[in-house]
Amino acid sequence: MMVTVRIGNIPAVLLIPSQIGINSRRRFFKPLFAPSPPTFERMSAAKVRASSSTAFVETKPDSILDEKVEVSTSKNILACPICYVPLIWNGNPGFSVDSAPQTSFQCSTCKKSYFGNETHLDLTVTSGAKEYGESMPVSTQIFRFSLVSFLYERGWRQSFSVLGGFPGPEKEFELTKNYLKPVLGGNIVDASCGSGLFSRLFAKSGLFSLVIALDYSENMLRQCYEFIKQEESFPKENLILVRADISRLPFASSSVDAVHAGAALHCWPSPSAAVAEISRVLRPGGVFVATTYLLDGPFAALPLLRPLRENIGQISGSHIFLAERELEDLCRACGLVGFTCVRNRRFVMISARKAS
Ligand SMILES: C[S@@+](CC[C@H](N)C(=O)[O-])C[C@H]1O[C@@H](n2cnc3c(N)ncnc32)[C@H](O)[C@@H]1O
Repeated sequence: MMVTVRIGNIPAVLLIPSQIGINSRRRFFKPLFAPSPPTFERMSAAKVRASSSTAFVETKPDSILDEKVEVSTSKNILACPICYVPLIWNGNPGFSVDSAPQTSFQCSTCKKSYFGNETHLDLTVTSGAKEYGESMPVSTQIFRFSLVSFLYERGWRQSFSVLGGFPGPEKEFELTKNYLKPVLGGNIVDASCGSGLFSRLFAKSGLFSLVIALDYSENMLRQCYEFIKQEESFPKENLILVRADISRLPFASSSVDAVHAGAALHCWPSPSAAVAEISRVLRPGGVFVATTYLLDGPFAALPLLRPLRENIGQISGSHIFLAERELEDLCRACGLVGFTCVRNRRFVMISARKAS
């Protein structure tokens, strides 16, 4: 099958593996009218490289993307982050942004109670702890500052396009929707949603039965709530804001249809613990879509880069990915299959799914 791709003003064709005789789900971009030499053509995973312009990818449904999965109709997916058993709601379950303050649950196993506040439900393991506090690595802590959450959609996020080749929310949302085709109508967790840039788009699209905007930062969730409040006629039903740690997700195993994680993989204290959790909560056939940075190209060959990365990682808590195959390996190691990705300079969008 042929897929239309635009790299700046340059039309290109994406060939799926069956046409080029490769038994893999990777895709290849081949420029139609390429400047010479066609620097963006490389025989690896699906990608578009554009040195100065944004790469637009218009993916038509193919056999991979069309494989429909039986999606969840039950919204009762919230689980105790300690025991992983479904939480019992005190009162009627409320799946609306406005229902958080009246919400409380209990775990039938450990008997711990969880509560909502004005803006979100707190489903962290430490919720309710009075004396105990723990600090996370810098890459998690930094987003807890109110100034950072205020600035995030007021310039910070936009810098990702300039510095890293992120195509911007609208294009990223379009690309994401293509990967999510098999699970439309089901529930979606926008993991590490920040101030809810994509959670709000998911909710407004009406394409999902339930949207869960999840982040560890209280201030990011508050900012998300503020944005929602400011928007007249925002569809608040079927959207809830949840505070949780990505390495301890408050969902029952095999209960989630889709997990999206925009610009977050590199911020997680342990990407493998996080992706393993995502794999645990995804139902068979459930889809994981994420974006991050990739520091490959000439840099990757530097012999000192790997030890340097480890040192930077230890100080900042962030993880620098050096190659697509590293991300593919991470997904595979965590039980996710069918890895595929799209590139634009340092930006990479990956997708994989839980084996059926
Ligand atoms: C760069 S922002 C991405 C926000 C948004 N998804 C986007 O696409 O712009 C990274 C987010 O990851 C969140 N984060 C970092 N560590 C986390 C953790 N351990 N658990 C959950 N979220 C975390 C931060 O709070 C922050 O909101």
